[in-house]
Amino acid sequence: MATCEHAAAAGGQTAPMQFEENNLSEVKRVIAVLSGKGGVGKSLVTGSLAVELARGGAKVGILDADITGPSIPRMFGMGDRRAHGLGKLLLPEISATGIKVMSSNLLLQNETDPVLWRGPIIAGAIKQFWSDTSWGPLDYLLVDMPPGTGDVALTVFQSLPVDGIVVVTSPQDLVSMIVAKAVNMADKMNVPILGIVENMSYVQCPDCGRAIEIFGESKLDQVAETYNLKVLDRLPIDPALAAACDAGTIEADLPAGTLPLTLAAARAVEAHEGDEDKQA
Ligand SMILES: Nc1ncnc2c1ncn2[C@@H]1O[C@H](COP(=O)(O)OP(=O)(O)OP(=O)(O)O)[C@@H](O)[C@H]1O
Ligand SMILES: [Mg+2]
Ligand SMILES: [Zn+2]
Repeated sequence: MATCEHAAAAGGQTAPMQFEENNLSEVKRVIAVLSGKGGVGKSLVTGSLAVELARGGAKVGILDADITGPSIPRMFGMGDRRAHGLGKLLLPEISATGIKVMSSNLLLQNETDPVLWRGPIIAGAIKQFWSDTSWGPLDYLLVDMPPGTGDVALTVFQSLPVDGIVVVTSPQDLVSMIVAKAVNMADKMNVPILGIVENMSYVQCPDCGRAIEIFGESKLDQVAETYNLKVLDRLPIDPALAAACDAGTIEADLPAGTLPLTLAAARAVEAHEGDEDKQA
């Protein structure tokens, strides 16, 4: 098996830590969506980016790494579906437009069951979602991260071949040290940050379309400069989009052209060389 460039960069030292990819997965790019704190819209950004990539014809999967608070299946209208097995492997569920999803939610009896798993079991679940899930050929696997920069996030970065990180923030984060947490984690893990998205950045006036910055003038450019990050997109507060996420209709209802710069940044990530070998 070819080692990835991350392992090579670390002198091979990270290799034993990395979870192995199975023979039925050919994942070309892994992009994680991270924030320094919870509730800022990581899942909404992950889902939206997946939809936009898929609309462009790419094969897309979402690994829901938020084991204790999964929100991806519901967004794609698969809240009551259960994952199936193929021999020893799990099969991701497939959305209306062909997006593959693996989530703890798909393994629970009832969507409302509380997830009371402990640390080692959570790490085991992440491993299952990578090593024991048959992803097939994917151009992009997006990883919806759990809130914050704790153990689960660490496990993901240590164990999966993450190529890039999209950092999601809210206007409030930009006046505190919350962005620094995400940036520090990315630095420590040696994974490049593709850029920063400001969610709930403004409200669009329903009458004239003007952007109303209800949290005051955005600090996004300033913070991006401080941490040397690329500004990707700014998303407005959009109650219709939140309702679509709740109703499981994000694929039908996401406005065209959402997150254009994030989409471009994802497309600019180079495909894993190891997977080129595997296909040959
Ligand atoms: N731009 C937006 N406009 C309106 N509602 C939004 C927007 N972004 C997120 N929301 C809503 O805010 C809530 C939190 O968003 P989301 O679940 O995406 O955040 P998260 O960062 O993934 O949270 P967690 O850390 O708990 O995983 C959801 O109900 C979502 O629909
Ligand atoms: Mg989430
Ligand atoms: Zn107006």
